[in-house]
Amino acid sequence: MAVGTVLVTGGTGYIGSFTTLALLDNGYDVVIVDSLLNSSKAALDRIELICGKRPTFYQVDITDEAGLDDVFSKHPDIDSVIHFAALKAVGESGEIPLEYYRVNVGGSITLLRSMAKHNVSNIVFSSSATVYGDATRIPGMIPIPENCPIGPTNTYGHTKVMIETVITDHIEAERRKAKKAGKPFEQWNGALLRYFNPCGAHPSGIMGEDPQGVPYNLLPLLGKVATGERDKLLVFGDDYASKDGTAIRDYIHVLDLASGHLAALNYLREKKPGVKAWNLGSGRGSTVFEMIKAFSKVVGRDLPYQVVDRRLGDVLDLTANPALANEELQWKTKLTLEDACADLWRWVENNPKGYRQDPPAELLEKLKASKAVKN
Ligand SMILES: NC(=O)c1ccc[n+]([C@@H]2O[C@H](COP(=O)([O-])OP(=O)(O)OC[C@H]3O[C@@H](n4cnc5c(N)ncnc54)[C@H](O)[C@@H]3O)[C@@H](O)[C@H]2O)c1
Repeated sequence: MAVGTVLVTGGTGYIGSFTTLALLDNGYDVVIVDSLLNSSKAALDRIELICGKRPTFYQVDITDEAGLDDVFSKHPDIDSVIHFAALKAVGESGEIPLEYYRVNVGGSITLLRSMAKHNVSNIVFSSSATVYGDATRIPGMIPIPENCPIGPTNTYGHTKVMIETVITDHIEAERRKAKKAGKPFEQWNGALLRYFNPCGAHPSGIMGEDPQGVPYNLLPLLGKVATGERDKLLVFGDDYASKDGTAIRDYIHVLDLASGHLAALNYLREKKPGVKAWNLGSGRGSTVFEMIKAFSKVVGRDLPYQVVDRRLGDVLDLTANPALANEELQWKTKLTLEDACADLWRWVENNPKGYRQDPPAELLEKLKASKAVKN
């Protein structure tokens, strides 16, 4: 029997698909809702190829309350939600803020309403280190602890802070109401997971990030430079107060990030803490130039780049202090950014069309052999 059943919103997306894999691998049943705005159903096939189990899938938009109600009605065994579905491009969020507030904030409220109607009381939320904004504005806040004051510098970050607030107010209100009525209240819990910079792909080379449009993150863009799809990487600013002038980020392998979700979900279900925020990061900061060097090393040649002006809303340093998650969730990163670079390159080099092509036969053979050894 399954350990539990989890609804994963945005589960065909990059982080959602890897978290689904981790959940299935650890005995959970998974139901996915995704609008497929930025992903494809092929992710479901890859999950099944890797772990031998397939999540249940519904093409539903999180702003569609009736659609969500229908999914919860069909799956009364769902007791927790991991909520990834969102718009996530920082630049775009400044251009179409209303759409970001409608989908991210409005969609989250719709989801929480539908969850409450169906007595689904645990939520793990994809927040972001962006909520901290420029942590260097306050002395002693690098690496960033969870009690660093919030101060997002862009619309996307504002939506994440708002959703954190909505979740906190909702869970606390449900706890208070139940307590007052003399009913059990501890089942209402929320994890606000503030991710640093997710990157990498599955080591098998058959599953990775495959956005529908242009990628915005450094490593996928470097991947496109390496395959020749882009002629160079644009480096936004080399006049930051870092050792080489480029911005510092904490890169976390997507497999580690996925296992962080599993740890947070288990913690909510076992310890019933109410609402808590945890940083999911490695604690190691790397500059853009260091990343270009690390990825170039894996590819075997220097990748071209050009320094341009700073991007609006970017900050100098987002490096996590992950001590709280290390301690409370008994979770820490196991993979390095060198692993992430190698895995990303294996994915990009072998799947130039992402999920719009079949996985290479040679990689499937290797996967089969590695599974046979494990069994
Ligand atoms: N990738 C990062 O660098 C990063 C960093 C911090 C936080 N996050 C957060 O993590 C979550 C997942 O990010 P990702 O990188 O996997 O992005 P992604 O775009 O690959 O995944 C998001 C998924 O949500 C779906 N979606 C979008 N709008 C939807 C809607 N209205 N209804 C239903 N589904 C919808 C998309 O189709 C996609 O499959 C997001 O909430 C993002 O803000 C990402």
